[in-house]
Amino acid sequence: MKIIGGSASSDLAGRLAGELEADLVATEVKRFPDDEAYVRIVDDITEDDVVLVQSAYPDKNIIELFLWQDALADLSVNSLRVVIPYLGYARQDKAFLKGEAVSIRALANLIQMGASEMYTVDAHSEGASRYFDVRWNELSAAPALAGHLKDLNIDFVLAPDEGALERARQVADLLNCESDYLEKKRIDSHTVEVSPKSLDAGGKSVAIVDDIISTGGTIVRATEQLREHGAKTVIAACTHGLFVGDALERLKVCDEVFCTDTLMSPVSKVTVAGVIAEALGAQRD
Ligand code: R5P
Repeated sequence: MKIIGGSASSDLAGRLAGELEADLVATEVKRFPDDEAYVRIVDDITEDDVVLVQSAYPDKNIIELFLWQDALADLSVNSLRVVIPYLGYARQDKAFLKGEAVSIRALANLIQMGASEMYTVDAHSEGASRYFDVRWNELSAAPALAGHLKDLNIDFVLAPDEGALERARQVADLLNCESDYLEKKRIDSHTVEVSPKSLDAGGKSVAIVDDIISTGGTIVRATEQLREHGAKTVIAACTHGLFVGDALERLKVCDEVFCTDTLMSPVSKVTVAGVIAEALGAQRD
């Protein structure tokens, strides 16, 4: 098995190669002065089983992903499996209003080019899978997040909205503690409201677990609720840390913030290499 790591996922691809004792393929990536990308696969991978790893965020890494796909199309590999640790655009999985693009459908058509299977971690929408004709493998970051939280004596896990409850439950089960959720209303891309709710948080250490932290607004509002209810410690954990703008600064209201390495950030403290390696290994048998 040969692993190609794109710019968005080079660290994770290296960890994956380590886990699988597979070769990391030598590549070249550069940007022209106008920021257009150039990619080249340097090693000979003819007739190899290849795994391409590249998160689909931000947009420039999506273009780079398509360039890798195109380079691979000319190289007569034996098989190609595509790992998209963070699947951008999965929130727009249908036309909510007439005339809207179904963004994830547009990406799906290109992501699966030449691939036999695709793998992703905690895709925001289950509905995204319907646009992929190739086998879709959805992996969970819950064990990785719980692995870090287990040393922090967490008393309960909070989902910032009902949609995040299942993941929060999985993490809570692994920590052997309770879970709860908040009622969230999104006003616009930068503003969320969290309805007041009675929470048994007095003197407790709470982990807020979500799939994505983008602006940080959701976590900040949830943290305020927990502080009002007397929480002792608030840890924010997510699978995909986008941290746009000054999000990490705003998130200093939490005692700790961390995420996985589906995206590279200063707080990508846990890796999903193990769960991806396990899935890739299992599929080979
Ligand atoms: C939304 O449903 C997601 O699960 C996250 O809660 C959301 O993307 C977080 O966004 P932000 O950090 O901008 O509040």
